[in-house]
Amino acid sequence: MSTRIKKITALEILDSRGNPTVRVFCGLDNGLCASASVPSGASTGENEAVELRDGDAQRYQGKGVLKAVRNVNSCIAPVLTGLPASQQAEIDRLMLELDGTSNKSKLGANAMLGVSMAVARAAALAAGLPLFAYLGGPGARRLPVPMMNILNGGKHADNSVDFQEFMVMPIGAPSFAEALRCGAEVFHALKKLLAGKGYSTAVGDEGGFAPNLRSNDEACELIVAAIRAAGYEPGKDAGIALDPAASSFSHGQQYDLHKSKQGRKSSAEMTALYSQWIAQYPIVSIEDGLAEHDWAGFQAQAAAIGDRIQIVGDDLFVTNTKFIARGIREKSANAVLIKLNQIGTLSETIQAIELCRKAGWGFVISHRSGETEDDFLADFAVAMGGGQIKTGSLCRSERIAKYNRLLEIEALLGPAAQFSSPF
Ligand code: PGA
Ligand code: ZN
Repeated sequence: MSTRIKKITALEILDSRGNPTVRVFCGLDNGLCASASVPSGASTGENEAVELRDGDAQRYQGKGVLKAVRNVNSCIAPVLTGLPASQQAEIDRLMLELDGTSNKSKLGANAMLGVSMAVARAAALAAGLPLFAYLGGPGARRLPVPMMNILNGGKHADNSVDFQEFMVMPIGAPSFAEALRCGAEVFHALKKLLAGKGYSTAVGDEGGFAPNLRSNDEACELIVAAIRAAGYEPGKDAGIALDPAASSFSHGQQYDLHKSKQGRKSSAEMTALYSQWIAQYPIVSIEDGLAEHDWAGFQAQAAAIGDRIQIVGDDLFVTNTKFIARGIREKSANAVLIKLNQIGTLSETIQAIELCRKAGWGFVISHRSGETEDDFLADFAVAMGGGQIKTGSLCRSERIAKYNRLLEIEALLGPAAQFSSPF
């Protein structure tokens, strides 16, 4: 049975924020067809691959993606048509060659990633395998522990909280299904606590609450209280993972905690603050605690607290092997946030993960704040087997789609499914 690519086409669709994004369809000459949709970030790292937008103010405030769609239809499709869909590495390499830039600014990382993902899905279909088994092989059976973003501050909320994301992480759960239940119960307990205090329970882009809290500390205290109220033990059943997204409040060498009125802090003072928080709250992981330029600060932070918690680089590494290799050399962190669209092809994303594995580093497969109903990420997390996924809160269907797919995968694997804390 032939599994050659017969047709690749792209479509401009909307993401969860109502902004245009790219969906790509990959048809094979055996009649099978698959599609994939590309996510989009808001607090993006400076070194991310280029997300091509039209810049035509007459359409979607300049955010249209018709150029990227055209690049798929007119530039990429003719080159890939006729190739076996199973040749993922070669397909990604050909797109890189066709683009020819260091940051994918010619074709657009959104165009390239859409194709890369759709081809993988089509190949999995043709092989008669679920996507996680096609990408991860017969050994792919580890479900990820979810980091669930339930409370927001920073640029994602109009309140007195400087840090962007406060996540609950059910590290003591026996299965993915139980971890998800724990997250959902904590989410609902938190909603009740917030309402009881007269706070808003409206949710942000990733489904987390964004009430007008008084301080960063109050956010941690509320999550601890919600974990308890839901009947779980903080630190044992569920921990807290933070993504301060510190690039967004850094100015030069300083960190400006202006929302909480704590003033400017040095990199060392930020690390001292985190160190104090680790002692006070059940924090298991901190992502982007410092800004993307602060390599020296990251190194000092990892030396100071890297033996107690997971230190994750997101904006710092942008899923790029060049920056991850530097981080490994300089001991800047001990884990990497993995976002497919930061680098723009499936093959390069897998290379980034391989580098993490070789160094003994952790990695967290992550969504973006702008998502679609595509659940590719769930299969990808199981395929890569790193044991961690970050895909938002316990509401909003573009987030829940990934969780529901993970439930399906766990059920499909049955007793073969594995679930264990990555720490
Ligand atoms: P983004 O946010 O998708 O807007 O970049 C998520 C994050 O910072 O991890
Ligand atoms: Zn982040």
